[in-house]
Amino acid sequence: MLLEINNLHADAEQRNVLKGVNLKIGKNELHVLMGPNGSGKTTLAKSIMGHPNVKITEGSILFNGEKINEMPVNERARLGIFLQFQNPVEIEGLGIVNFLNSARGALSKEKISYKEFMGEIKKNGESLKLREDLIGRSLNYGFSGGEKKKMEILQMSMLGPKLAILDEPDSGLDIDAVKIVAENINHIRERTGMSILLITHYSRILSYMDPQFIHVMANGKIVREGGKELITEIEKEGYKLDE
Ligand SMILES: Nc1ncnc2c1ncn2[C@@H]1O[C@H](COP(=O)(O)OP(=O)(O)OP(=O)(O)O)[C@@H](O)[C@H]1O
Ligand SMILES: [Mg+2]
Repeated sequence: MLLEINNLHADAEQRNVLKGVNLKIGKNELHVLMGPNGSGKTTLAKSIMGHPNVKITEGSILFNGEKINEMPVNERARLGIFLQFQNPVEIEGLGIVNFLNSARGALSKEKISYKEFMGEIKKNGESLKLREDLIGRSLNYGFSGGEKKKMEILQMSMLGPKLAILDEPDSGLDIDAVKIVAENINHIRERTGMSILLITHYSRILSYMDPQFIHVMANGKIVREGGKELITEIEKEGYKLDE
């Protein structure tokens, strides 16, 4: 198992949000997490990454068999965990190339030339249909909603994580961009063999992917699990959580 979460309870700002989550993700697997607004999906994503707003009160998170409950964010990143934010922040003054270069330097020892590095950024940016001049700007500063989402995927492609947690990579994207983002995620997955936990409200992005495991979260717990067929069912009938 790459990720194993056992009976996870966690608070966000002193409020108990996660109430006993169990989740296992193997290598090279694509897992989808759905569920109503406010059910705890983002809180779960943050707890795996080690976000300071989320406090684990019970249970465990194992990554490659190692307990990481108390591990700082940068060490988790070094182990290969990547979180794409539901709402990416704008950081004025932090140049994108510098940012990507120091992030990559912190995570990998591999040496590549500046020219090669820029070539990689350019290639990945083109594949995402990100306007080239955006690369010269500050991180997400003045970016449109969709551009921010694509910028997160660009970061992922440059960092090559082992586990990518994608928190609504499709929200706010136009119809063509959803397809482009899905195809880029697929491509990175094929290239690196990474596992994915993809949070979404919509089946559209999943129609371009091959989701193997679907989990539904409600009120801080995973309450339903299944394969692809669950997506169609939810799309048609809603979550039907009262039964
Ligand atoms: N920092 C915080 N301070 C206070 N409450 C919080 C905080 N973070 C999360 N919560 C609360 O925890 C609950 C779960 O939030 P979370 O963001 O995990 O939901 P979600 O499933 O991701 O929802 P959505 O689908 O709308 O993104 C919500 O009621 C939210 O208000
Ligand atoms: Mg959320």
